[in-house]
Amino acid sequence: MAEPDARPLPKAELHVHIEGAAPPDLVRRLAERYQVDVAGLFDDSGGYRWEDFASFLSAYDRASRVFRTPQDYAELSESYLCGIAAEGAIYAELTISPDHAAGAGLSYRDYVAGLAEGIERARAATGIEARMIAIGVRHFGARAVEQAVRQVTSAPHPLVTGFGLAGDEREGHPANFARAFRMAGEAGLGLTAHAGEFAGPESVTAALDFLQVKRIGHGVRAIQDRAVVERLVREKIVLEVCPGSNLALGLYGALRFHPVNLLRRAGCRITLNSDDPPFFATSLGREYASCAETFGWSRVDQLKLTRTALEAAFCDPRTRNGLLARLAEAEAAAGRR
Ligand code: ADE
Ligand code: ZN
Repeated sequence: MAEPDARPLPKAELHVHIEGAAPPDLVRRLAERYQVDVAGLFDDSGGYRWEDFASFLSAYDRASRVFRTPQDYAELSESYLCGIAAEGAIYAELTISPDHAAGAGLSYRDYVAGLAEGIERARAATGIEARMIAIGVRHFGARAVEQAVRQVTSAPHPLVTGFGLAGDEREGHPANFARAFRMAGEAGLGLTAHAGEFAGPESVTAALDFLQVKRIGHGVRAIQDRAVVERLVREKIVLEVCPGSNLALGLYGALRFHPVNLLRRAGCRITLNSDDPPFFATSLGREYASCAETFGWSRVDQLKLTRTALEAAFCDPRTRNGLLARLAEAEAAAGRR
């Protein structure tokens, strides 16, 4: 029998909000440095305090306001990427938010430069590759989202390769953002949008119809409509599934009731992601491990998630091929077991 492999399984993450990945200790340290009032932001055990989606979004907004300089963001992206590299991640896409940077008084260029510096340092230290997906915030409205696209396209950066839509899905129809997404697509950015998280399958359909996305953030509520699931399968749409986030936000009562395995068995292209890890007491490694345990996924099944993520990654073909070659070694070893 083959020896158990001590190396963690190669993983890839397509959906993690960089501000939502800020460890509470770092936020407290920066808040003290910049004299930012964070009263009520933390609970008695030092974690973030929030009760529902609205209060989560507002805690997230407050935490983001302590990141004031490119160096603060470099520290955040470097430490996040080194942490998931230790769990086996070979690739990650960081969701970044020009609006949140502006809220802390940081220009888009400085924001991206800081994050990119952290990405380069993490790559040098661990070999992890990363890219950035800039998002518009849906509940800030169509003008703000178009303004975010303009910022991104007027200051192109080689590591900013995608554009997405986050924020409160219950506000604003995707049709309102069609122009912004057309501009982003014409600039060559990969496109994704949160849908089917807090709204139902019709929201997934609208994102596909109006935003030309090839990936959907979450998308899990597509399970409520068989025709929508069939469309996802037919159009090979990749779902950025974040089970821990969905459980923490109360969409499902327990992982065994989460539709990720049903979607997978229906033929949807699935990836696993942490969304906002310290807010939801999760990590990329925990997402893989808890789904493997709950749904009985083998190493081969888990490597398929990584392959799907790399195939759908918003990166250049050379980077993708290099990553797929790294993955192929683990796939060959898993096949031999
Ligand atoms: N921004 C950060 N996390 C989010 C989520 N889970 N849904 C929508 N917008 C978000
Ligand atoms: Zn998200």
